[in-house]
Amino acid sequence: MSPFLLTRTLPEDATDAALRADVRTGLTRRPKTLPPKWFYDARGSELFEEITRLPEYYPTRAEREILLARAARIAEVSGARTLVELGSGSSEKTRHLLDALPSLHSYVPVDVSESALRGAAESLLADRPGLSVHALIADFTRGLALPGTPGPRLVAFLGGTIGNLLPDERAAFLHSVRSLLSPGDGLLLGTDLVKDEATLVAAYDDAAGVTARFNKNVLAVVNRELGADFDRDDFGHVAVWDPHHEWIEMRLRARRALSVKIPELDLVVPFEAGEEVRTEVSAKFRKEGIGGELAAAGLRLDQWWTDSADRFALSLATAV
Ligand code: SAH
Ligand code: TRP
Repeated sequence: MSPFLLTRTLPEDATDAALRADVRTGLTRRPKTLPPKWFYDARGSELFEEITRLPEYYPTRAEREILLARAARIAEVSGARTLVELGSGSSEKTRHLLDALPSLHSYVPVDVSESALRGAAESLLADRPGLSVHALIADFTRGLALPGTPGPRLVAFLGGTIGNLLPDERAAFLHSVRSLLSPGDGLLLGTDLVKDEATLVAAYDDAAGVTARFNKNVLAVVNRELGADFDRDDFGHVAVWDPHHEWIEMRLRARRALSVKIPELDLVVPFEAGEEVRTEVSAKFRKEGIGGELAAAGLRLDQWWTDSADRFALSLATAV
């Protein structure tokens, strides 16, 4: 049996239809929006990896610190034979977990980015030839169908990616995760924490401009896939802290009045000077909030671990 299987649960034309619908809906409403999953083509996935190495972007380092300190405990508590990881990207930090799980049978990384999944599997299998990797190209906000690998299951959702969902999407998402689990199975959830505004804004507006390039990559995706004529130089990158929602909001701001043609949608989109498109939120959390949201979805918060500077948290929850 091949140790690596790649399953596409999204037919390519469904991805295409979803992008068309999202771009049409998002760019014809006010304020304009574009959903974050379209950042992650091959170039976007590369840029995200570059973000994780920026001095200002502390979440990756903080989460890695917690994983290194707690991997053995997570392995012991979960006894996982299948590790499912949602939005797995490069699976870089996950190595610490895989190394700690001696009875692991299968690793199931799930991502919309095929290039990220292939890269991750290639590098994991180079060191662990015996590991069974069943990668899924899938949208974790739609119903997921997991392969029939043995339990107990542990679902990992790292990187603070849950913060990229809006509150109602988050509740629906946690319910759908719960439906993938049997009682006693676990969820390992990484969440960035509320902290001072300057630290947060810098993490999403770095001095080298990598995050700006990442944010603007969504325009390149729309150009390539839908024939649009966005000029990335016409837009500025904006990251603002919203203290009411406790999230960072990423926007693209038109530097002048302009209009963009999107031939594949038969659409012309006008922008006023200074008009913004919201491309992403990144919500920041507190322990009480997480505990409540998990409980509402049938998940009991059992462990809460933070890094030495209390910037980021890793929660271990059990399906009840
Ligand atoms: N877990 C990694 C990567 C985080 S970046 C880390 O902690 O560093 C977010 C990842 O989620 C990207 O790889 C992106 O392609 C993926 N992603 C974003 N939206 C998604 C969706 N709706 N369904 C599946 N994967 C998604
Ligand atoms: N999940 C990451 C986060 O919220 C994604 C991310 C990091 C991101 N930097 C970004 C998304 C910049 C859009 C723009 O931290």
